[in-house]
Amino acid sequence: MTVQWTPPAGALCMRRVSHRIRCLITAGPTREHLDPVRFLSNGSSGKMGYALAGNAIARGWEVDLVSGPVALPPPPGATVHQVMSAEEMFRACEPLFAASDLFIAVAAVADYRPRETAPEKLKKTGGTLNLELVPTIDILKTLAARKRPGQVVVGFAAETQDLENCARRKLVEKDLDWIVANDVGRPGLGMNADANAVLLLGRNGESLAFGPAPKLAVAEFILAHIAPVSAGFVRP
Ligand code: CTP
Repeated sequence: MTVQWTPPAGALCMRRVSHRIRCLITAGPTREHLDPVRFLSNGSSGKMGYALAGNAIARGWEVDLVSGPVALPPPPGATVHQVMSAEEMFRACEPLFAASDLFIAVAAVADYRPRETAPEKLKKTGGTLNLELVPTIDILKTLAARKRPGQVVVGFAAETQDLENCARRKLVEKDLDWIVANDVGRPGLGMNADANAVLLLGRNGESLAFGPAPKLAVAEFILAHIAPVSAGFVRP
């Protein structure tokens, strides 16, 4: 009798070959400079992305971590690519994405940047200052549109209201396999905290809640669910 194995929907689709799973992770904030000393950014610490990178390394995966400016030591064993702006993050991710089996976008990428970056420090005039902001590239959406069969793409959704609906909308609009929704409005959890409470939503209607728990435990939970057939298996 022949048994056909069908991988769980949204799971890494893998068979035994000779190389390790390649995982690309973005982490931390981006900085969009107004002038050489001032920038637009956010309070992301990078802890969640770095915890995922550490857990992926512990699973024996090859990890490329594309990181905005954070005050964390590089996870031993990961290849870290330091970037500043959304544009730099995208340029670093593009070739790595093409070679990856799994892409997890954790970075809190700035959605807007100043239209102009002044080459010298801006001087105050005493009057009001109007900044013209233009959208940055949506790294996750742009790369997810280039997904190969079997490649798994995971996003994060940082929300302060209507968590599940907002996250599910992003899952669909960005054509993701999974999205990790976290409420960034709760004190002590999420952005810049050591703990997180997440809702993991899958493209096939899966909905799994985890936490509050330390980010290391949240990382273990996420990777255990998005790659349930990882041990000994790598990409086609
Ligand atoms: N993301 C990205 N590039 C951007 C903006 C977001 O790659 N320019 C990714 C984030 O890394 C995250 C996901 O998209 O995985 C959702 O980010 P989030 O900030 O929650 O949502 P946005 O798409 O920026 O939408 P909004 O700010 O309106 O909620």
